[in-house]
Amino acid sequence: MSGEPSSEAILACKGLSKHFGGVRALSDVSFEARRGEVTAVIGDNGAGKSTLIRCLVGVNVPDDGEIFFDGRRHPFANPDEARKAGIETVHQNLSLIDELTVVQNLFLNREIVRRVGPLALLDRPAMKREARAMLSRLSINVPSVSARVRRLSGGQRQAISICRAVGSGAKVVVMDEPTAALGVQETANVEALIRRLREQAVSVVLVSHNFDQVRRLSDRIWVMRAGRVVATVQSAETTGNELVALVTGAA
Ligand SMILES: Nc1ncnc2c1ncn2[C@@H]1O[C@H](COP(=O)(O)OP(=O)(O)OP(=O)(O)O)[C@@H](O)[C@H]1O
Ligand SMILES: [Mg+2]
Repeated sequence: MSGEPSSEAILACKGLSKHFGGVRALSDVSFEARRGEVTAVIGDNGAGKSTLIRCLVGVNVPDDGEIFFDGRRHPFANPDEARKAGIETVHQNLSLIDELTVVQNLFLNREIVRRVGPLALLDRPAMKREARAMLSRLSINVPSVSARVRRLSGGQRQAISICRAVGSGAKVVVMDEPTAALGVQETANVEALIRRLREQAVSVVLVSHNFDQVRRLSDRIWVMRAGRVVATVQSAETTGNELVALVTGAA
């Protein structure tokens, strides 16, 4: 990729580099996720996928390079800035709080309050109502929105994380291995969620080790190896064997 990102790009970077001590996690990475598409990022363990994601959404500060959002140069100083701009992230290590309920997790740091004279009180009934509506929009089933998330299955927890990310009307949802360690049915539910997001014109960046999954769900696949982007392919035009060869370097 040369010059500015294309006009279809919603989230992009150019010449991104990042090292941790002696490890070069990213070397001169240029990437773009297009508006309304599902963009997959694949690569072996340690290839730099999560570091790329974390740089794009303001968790890590790159050593070098530029980040673009919605056509403008826009480095995010922290995840809150990225979130305010409309980028929500489901990180590889889930960020739910076990001891809080489903509702409390969904409204963490964005509680609904009602004013009573000089007081700002939590509007619990409103949050419960809205939580049920958010879950039902994405066809997510949990025993109760008042259940502590500690009691939910891995797939339900994953769905809650995704629900929290998309519940606020994000333009871009970034998911780092959303189905790793999930069962067959739970994986199918999360995949259905991703399809629904795409139908709702939300742009998705999907990091996954599951090559069949990325071929099924994504429009375009970016392949990383040892901190570099080594290939970009159209999902409809590639095969599992080609992806394996690109990821391992046998191609
Ligand atoms: N906070 C950190 N401190 C030190 N090294 C790090 C840190 N984060 C990542 N690295 C290193 O950077 C390289 C890329 O890591 P990254 O987590 O981006 O890989 P990944 O492609 O997401 O791998 P995986 O598929 O295992 O999740 C690895 O060598 C890793 O050890
Ligand atoms: Mg990772």
